[in-house]
Amino acid sequence: MSFKDSKVVIVGLGNVGATTAYSIINQGLCEEIVLIDINKEKAYGEALDMQQSVYFMNRNIKVKAGDYSDCKDADVVIITASAPMPKDSHDRLQMLAPSIKIIKSIVSSTMASGFNGIFIVVSNPVDIMSYITWKESGLPKNQVIGSGTTLDSARLSCRLADMYHLDAKSVSAYVCGEHGDSEMVTWSSATIGGKSVEDVLKDNAERTKDATKETLRHAVIEDGWQIFNRKGNTCYGIAAATTAIVKSILFNENRIYPVSVHLDGQYGMNDIFLSVPTIIDKTGAKEIVEINMKEDEQKALEESYKVLKDFCQQLD
Ligand code: LAC
Repeated sequence: MSFKDSKVVIVGLGNVGATTAYSIINQGLCEEIVLIDINKEKAYGEALDMQQSVYFMNRNIKVKAGDYSDCKDADVVIITASAPMPKDSHDRLQMLAPSIKIIKSIVSSTMASGFNGIFIVVSNPVDIMSYITWKESGLPKNQVIGSGTTLDSARLSCRLADMYHLDAKSVSAYVCGEHGDSEMVTWSSATIGGKSVEDVLKDNAERTKDATKETLRHAVIEDGWQIFNRKGNTCYGIAAATTAIVKSILFNENRIYPVSVHLDGQYGMNDIFLSVPTIIDKTGAKEIVEINMKEDEQKALEESYKVLKDFCQQLD
C-alpha cells in the first residue's frame, strides 16, 4: 500500500463519522473514501456533498457511499457508529449495552468481506468497543486501535499551553487509561520544552494560579461534557485525532499517540484495551511504549484497568 492507492471506509455517518471523512478528505490522506451508514440515503447525500468539495482540495479523491463489500481491500475501516448518547448522560459507559449489538454486526459484516486491514474504533465507550472489535474480528491485536485518549492528551496540552501562552505542540503530556472518568496523566514524564511539567507548574506560580495536577486532569475529563452539554455531540476534536491516527498508518509515520490498544503483559496488565503511548505505522499498533511510571501513576492506571476489566468480564 502507498498513500497513492489507499482506501478508507467509514462506518457510521453521524457528526463524528461525517466530520472525520471530511477531515481526511481535506488533508488528502487517501485515494478513495467509502461511506457506510444504516441510513443509505444519508450516506449517499454525504458522499455527494463531499465529492463536490474535492474540486477545491489539493488532490483528487474518490468519495462514494458503499456497503460492506467495499471493506475487502480497505486499508483502514473506521467505526464511529453507536447508539445515541442519552441527553442527560455523564458517562460514556452508559452507551455500552445498546451499542454492543451494533458494533458486533458491523465487525462481522466487515470481516465477511475478507477485510484484513486496520480497524480504528471511535465509538464510545471506546475501550470496550475496541475490545469487542478485536474479539469479534479475530484479527491480530496490532490491527485494532481505539482512538482512546489521543484527544484527551491534546486537550491537556491545550490547557497547559493556554496557561503559559505556548503552542500546544510544545507540550508533551499523555493522558492514559480509560477514555472516561478514570483516566490518568503520566505527570512525572510530561514535559514542556524539555522541562518537567511538575516544575513548570511550580516555577510559574503567577501563571499557574490555582491550577493543580488534579484540577487539570478533572478539567480534561470535563472538556468532552462541556461540549456535549452545549451542542449535543463532540465532533471536530475527535475527528482531528482520528485523522492523525489514520495519517500515521497510511503514511507509515511511526508517530506515537496514546491510543487504546490490547495489553499483553505491558504495565502488568492483560487482555484489556486501554490507552498508553503506542507507535503507529502501516501495520497499525506496532509497539507499545512502556513508561517508567511512579507508584501513584501505576496505581491510577490500575484504577482504569479495574473499571474496564469489570465491564469486559460482563460481556462474556
Ligand atoms: C469526546 C468524545 C469523543 O471526548 O468521547 O469528545
